[in-house]
Amino acid sequence: MHLARGAATRVGVLGAGAMGAGIAQVAAANGHPVVVVDASSEALDRARTGLDHAMRRAVEKSRLDERSATAIRANVRFSAVSDSGSMEAFADCDLVIEAIKEQLDVKRDAFARLEAVVGAECVLATNTSSLPVAGIASACRRPERVLGVHFFNPAPVMPLVEIVPGLGTAADVTTQVRALVDSWQKTTVLASDTPGFIVNRVARPFYGEGLRIHDEGIADAPTIDWAMCELGGFRMGPFSLMDLIGNDVNFAVTSTVFHAFYYDRRYTPSITQQRLVEAGRLGRKTGLGFYDYREGAVQPKPSTDRALGQEIVDRILALLINEAVEAVLWRVASPADIDLAVTKGVNYPKGLLAWGKELGFERVLTRMTALQQEYGEDRYRPSALLRRLARQDPPKFYT
Ligand code: NAI
Repeated sequence: MHLARGAATRVGVLGAGAMGAGIAQVAAANGHPVVVVDASSEALDRARTGLDHAMRRAVEKSRLDERSATAIRANVRFSAVSDSGSMEAFADCDLVIEAIKEQLDVKRDAFARLEAVVGAECVLATNTSSLPVAGIASACRRPERVLGVHFFNPAPVMPLVEIVPGLGTAADVTTQVRALVDSWQKTTVLASDTPGFIVNRVARPFYGEGLRIHDEGIADAPTIDWAMCELGGFRMGPFSLMDLIGNDVNFAVTSTVFHAFYYDRRYTPSITQQRLVEAGRLGRKTGLGFYDYREGAVQPKPSTDRALGQEIVDRILALLINEAVEAVLWRVASPADIDLAVTKGVNYPKGLLAWGKELGFERVLTRMTALQQEYGEDRYRPSALLRRLARQDPPKFYT
């Protein structure tokens, strides 16, 4: 197996939805011949139209010249899964990236069918955000060729890609895929096959603690969003971001991580957000979420009490830093990759570990301990590594 750059490596993408279409565009823009396969002809039509539209816009905005846009467009072929379920179109691919429905049995079935058509050297990747890579890989006769390659939405824009080897993934497969994705001008990080990988785990308190502060009536959504942006330096506050992601999607990720960690209270989903989902208030896409996006709606004003705002930022930030430290403790990824993941994957203004170091881990520990004492909840337990870091000067991440 050798995954060369450009035309020599043929890339397959299974699933022509939001992610599959974006991943296909990225591979095609890097000179690979790409075949996109989907069970639905409507999805294929949408992906084809979407790519045409993206290329037209890129030319209009002078991000691409006409020739490159035409070349990218010509690199992508669209093909339906055959009536018998065969994925013959992938027969000569060197790498296939799967981006279909987030359901373990559906993905396992697809990987078994995929392996039946590809050559012995073909690498199989999954874009899953929350399923175990090892569980998907075990549907294959050769799990050593399977790994997670987790792009962020929209794939052509977001720089981060989490590379996730499963239990049986061959080291060479991980190295080669990482090098290839790096050559696509993406920032890759290596994550362990644990729930939420890096970003979907470490970022949970941003939403979860925001919701908790809201539910306790300490502050309302606009005030929390104002504090996190104005005083915390985040690009978006948790409530605007949940409305943008979709409350259904955000709630599903939290619930998956909560279940996968055996109901660890740190990841407890919010009943408030669940009610929004049940009421169909999914955010921007339905016109109503935490905020009202319908025409003529007047947005509520935040309280701009700086002392309250700082209290909110310090509390959410302490939980985020604690979670990042806990991810180091459990070897989810290297400290450097954890910081890269949050700056490149969710646009945080600083890496959480660098931020902790800057603030002083002792301060973060003091805040976590105070919250734990006040509430008596395991949710606020400080990481054992946070305690260690608070004692060290300078703090050492691996001891
Ligand atoms: P989507 O619903 O937009 O697209 C999924 C596509 O897969 C659809 O076109 C559907 O027709 C097709 N499909 C479903 N089952 C199939 C099968 N058995 N065979 C062939 N085609 C099949 O989904 P989206 O959002 O693109 O997500 C795809 C994957 O990427 C999921 O695993 C998701 O968790 C992951 N992901 C999603 C992100 C997001 O923000 N949407 C971000 C990162 C990862």
